[in-house]
Amino acid sequence: MFADRVLSGMRPTGSLHLGHYHGVLKNWVKMQHEFECLFFVADWHALTTHYDNPQIIEQSVWDMVVDWLAAGVDPAHATLFIQSKVPEHAELHLLLSMITPLGWLERMPTYKDQQEKLSGKDLSTYGFLGYPLLQSADILIYRATQVPVGEDQVPHIEFTREIARRFNHIYGKEIGFQEKAEAAIKKLGGKKSKLYVDLRTRYQEQGDDEALESAKALLDEQQNLSHGDRERLFGYLEGGGKMILSEPQSMLTAASKMPGLDGQKMSKSYNNTITLREDEAEVTKKIRTMPTDPARIRRTDAGNPDRCPVWQLHQVYSNEATKAWAQQGCTSAGIGCIECKQPVIASVLEEQKPMRERAQLYLDDPSLVRNIIADGNEKARKMAQETMRDVREAMGLEYK
Ligand code: TRP
Ligand code: SF4
Repeated sequence: MFADRVLSGMRPTGSLHLGHYHGVLKNWVKMQHEFECLFFVADWHALTTHYDNPQIIEQSVWDMVVDWLAAGVDPAHATLFIQSKVPEHAELHLLLSMITPLGWLERMPTYKDQQEKLSGKDLSTYGFLGYPLLQSADILIYRATQVPVGEDQVPHIEFTREIARRFNHIYGKEIGFQEKAEAAIKKLGGKKSKLYVDLRTRYQEQGDDEALESAKALLDEQQNLSHGDRERLFGYLEGGGKMILSEPQSMLTAASKMPGLDGQKMSKSYNNTITLREDEAEVTKKIRTMPTDPARIRRTDAGNPDRCPVWQLHQVYSNEATKAWAQQGCTSAGIGCIECKQPVIASVLEEQKPMRERAQLYLDDPSLVRNIIADGNEKARKMAQETMRDVREAMGLEYK
């Protein structure tokens, strides 16, 4: 019923680097031409782990938006906004919390993982436990159909589907519900179908609570009902409604293979990054001083590219001819390492050039960025408010 709508968020916890560009932003730039896209700054999510030093968040918000724009995310094609400027996310988070079993949150793999990874920080907080539910609210409030995320976030999308299903089961029903429920009744088989229908009629027409309990017991006994049909038949017993929240799909973003300056994955925590708009001289210096094959001590020693982090950068940045040149030159000691690094430096600078130029425009006139975000906030807020009207109504919070 809904056209595809893509939504994704990023936490503002520091400057973006080329790993983000190759892993996430290039993908956003591509998708903005294929789908309706909403991209937002997840500042509340950043607070769940950075509650004691929010300055980092404050500094990163605008830098991050400039990085997005620099990378080619285009406000004419995508709606860009800040989570906390759409307070409806918090309202939906609160309302969903009423029906969220604690066990679902406690069992989330990211919950224990992150607590172990950030062991220096007390993450046994209410806010951190609720991280995935806030994410669900982010997604469900826009009725997003596709959520591009990395592998680690897939359980959060699965959890979001379960929350939507639970919400719909408790407060409403899906589109085509009637037909699907009737088909599910048929699947019960002759006698049981008839029993179910009779019990439902007795409950709905005469308010017979015993009939309702019997019907529920009947459903509980059914071993081979699918989860969806079971929820339909439970829902169908008790009354009418409509689909309120739609279940999103995750769109798996291939794990970024972007190598850092030391050959490990590029990551702020490894201190091996080149930032998106890093100064040219700094980029040159960083690559020039990169470690190479440790066995290649003298210029006359032949090297082995497989043991060299520069070779990994060639995989990302060089064409076949350049790679053949480096491979041949390295293994025959025909070229020196500085020489070998030169085309990589040139390619990184070339990739960054349009980004630096686009960013300059926004740095020269920060009001452009403020206006883009103000527009986005407003657009997002309208959509969020529409969903919240349905949610409040479904939950009986209208008080008309
Ligand atoms: N949790 C996501 C991450 O760490 C960020 C995020 C917050 C998000 N809300 C979202 C991503 C909604 C997609 C959709 O990367
Ligand atoms: Fe690495 Fe190139 Fe030096 Fe070989 S020549 S060790 S691939 S930098």
